[in-house]
Amino acid sequence: MKSVSSAPAKVILFGEHFVVYGGKAVLCSINRRIFVESEITGDKIIVSSALGSLETPVNSRIESVDSVFRPIIFLAQKALRQFSSNSGIKVSVRSEIPSGVGLGSSSACCVAAASSIFGLFARPSKEEILKNAIEAEKTIFERTSGADTNVCTYGGIMEYSKDGIKKMDLNPSFKIVVANSKMAHSTSQVVAKVKKFKEDHPDVFSTLCDNESSLIEEALEDLKRNDVVSLGIKMRVNQAHLEKIGVSNQTLNSMVSLLNGVAYGAKITGAGDGGCVIALVNGKNLDKTLSVLDSKYDCFSAEIDTVGVQS
Ligand code: PMV
Repeated sequence: MKSVSSAPAKVILFGEHFVVYGGKAVLCSINRRIFVESEITGDKIIVSSALGSLETPVNSRIESVDSVFRPIIFLAQKALRQFSSNSGIKVSVRSEIPSGVGLGSSSACCVAAASSIFGLFARPSKEEILKNAIEAEKTIFERTSGADTNVCTYGGIMEYSKDGIKKMDLNPSFKIVVANSKMAHSTSQVVAKVKKFKEDHPDVFSTLCDNESSLIEEALEDLKRNDVVSLGIKMRVNQAHLEKIGVSNQTLNSMVSLLNGVAYGAKITGAGDGGCVIALVNGKNLDKTLSVLDSKYDCFSAEIDTVGVQS
């Protein structure tokens, strides 16, 4: 028997970086997915994807698995133990989500894999899938906040803060254009850079945190009213805050400024210093927005995914 599951990518609409210092962030899942197919077979755990393949004994020590597939090996081992199986598991991953550019591919993979692998033995609830996915992600990223895994599991638009996560019951009329700068970035390095900025300019940073908090409260109202024009303006302001803390660069600035000429608003999504920018659009300006960045960048349009993990 094969068990197939998928989970969506995510973007951060508002609040990246400031959320690290206690603010809110607004995340939403988009309709680009990662698919995981599992099968009980043989006596080993075998994982394959476009990134390569790995074969390990079922009882290998998880700390010794030096691979991007470590979370999947963890999930397979946990499921085999939990359901007292002596068999092996074969897992294959197919992704529509570019990796390493802030679109949550690793969290989506953990969520889809938790659903697919545990689905070989039972029908896990979304709560169980999320719990296992977070445990799996912690094998490679110990300090994960769980925000990405949450939005990938439940789908839709979510408010996230250190106090927890709240799904918003919305019917958004907008779409998102995602443009990949193809510049690799390291979230932890960019977070460290912002920490330095905060230490060097405590007053400026504190004012920006306050401004970002007020901006997000207003943006949440715009979201409830489906006011795409006002929301776009808020995105531009959020981008200005991100530029002030030094996480944008010339390439991202010029992408954002081109997109701002046609879309309602544009900004970095995620850590910055590379990765992706997003633009807020609807049917009126979608095509123009997609065509404004030349073929140097990968651009695609996305809709809000309201489904989350699916099997
Ligand atoms: O680039 P991403 O999608 O991993 O987002 C990072 C978001 C930050 O606020 C910069 C860091 C964090 O842990 O919240």
